Amino acid sequence: MPLRPSCDILPSEITPPEIYRERRRFMLGMGVLAASATLGVAPDVQAGTRLAGVRSSAYTLGDEKTPYKAVTTYNNFYEFGTGKSDPADNAGSLITRPWTVTVEGEVGKPGVYDIDSLLKLAPLEERIYRMRCVEGWSMVIPWVGFPLSELIRRAAPTGKAKYVEFVSLNDPRQMPGQRSGVLDWPYVEGLRLDEAMHPLAILAVGLYGEVLPNQNGAPIRLVVPWKYGFKSAKSIVRIRFVEKQPLTAWMRAAPQEYGFYSNVNPQVDHPRWSQAKERRIGEFLKRDTLMFNGYGAQVAQLYRGMDLQRLF
Ligand code: MTE
Repeated sequence: MPLRPSCDILPSEITPPEIYRERRRFMLGMGVLAASATLGVAPDVQAGTRLAGVRSSAYTLGDEKTPYKAVTTYNNFYEFGTGKSDPADNAGSLITRPWTVTVEGEVGKPGVYDIDSLLKLAPLEERIYRMRCVEGWSMVIPWVGFPLSELIRRAAPTGKAKYVEFVSLNDPRQMPGQRSGVLDWPYVEGLRLDEAMHPLAILAVGLYGEVLPNQNGAPIRLVVPWKYGFKSAKSIVRIRFVEKQPLTAWMRAAPQEYGFYSNVNPQVDHPRWSQAKERRIGEFLKRDTLMFNGYGAQVAQLYRGMDLQRLF
């Protein structure tokens, strides 16, 4: 199991944004990204471009935001390698236009959505969320996105739809990490339908007011802030409504370590390390991890009567 329990950020692991952008400009100049150009990538969908018409929302926090450079250079995205800087170094090969998301399964209105139509599906909002990785670190990220419930409502789930499965892109030509067997690809995640409908669950298309960088899951990813970060699947191509609980990539890899629910819970340790505390990236001292990552007032009722030790 490759996840590291301790992952404190080292200054040497951070690529400053100027250098990152310079590297990207250099790659563009060299024609490394020319393939994306011929496939019709509009310059205005590149990471770093400001998203127009983003509304502020009630989802703000008193906590200081994690700096952009840490959010975009300290990542988990195993499709691009297991090192924290691998996604920022390697995800330039991901082509995010054209891109479609297939909505299927137990729904009255299945469909194939083009990413640019998804950007217009609902007003884009900024949502500043605490994010807690199962490895023991956390960040505060200003996402840009829209409620997942907006898409679900349009799909009109049938009475049989009990769960929603999210499938990430599976393309080893673009995703060098998929040439290794570190996980059984594609990356799959899932939520119970009522969790997916919760107003806190969003589909994110940006951060810090800009188009989502590839390493953060461009062009569209899930963000579920009361659960460990691995539930927030990146670069989604398929959303399937199903009757049975989906088998997620992490449950397939290590079922004794990763449960379906994966709610942030300081009282239930990972079999190999405590979940009681976390290191906020950029801070020195650890802080206490909060039940449901601090979102208990909003989400605890989803789990009323459940044994959270057993259904971890
Ligand atoms: N989605 C895919 N497709 N592949 C991954 O490896 N890693 C997960 C999650 N989504 C992952 C993924 C994990 S472990 C975390 S902590 C978050 O993405 C990290 O998101 P961030 O890099 O944007 O902070």
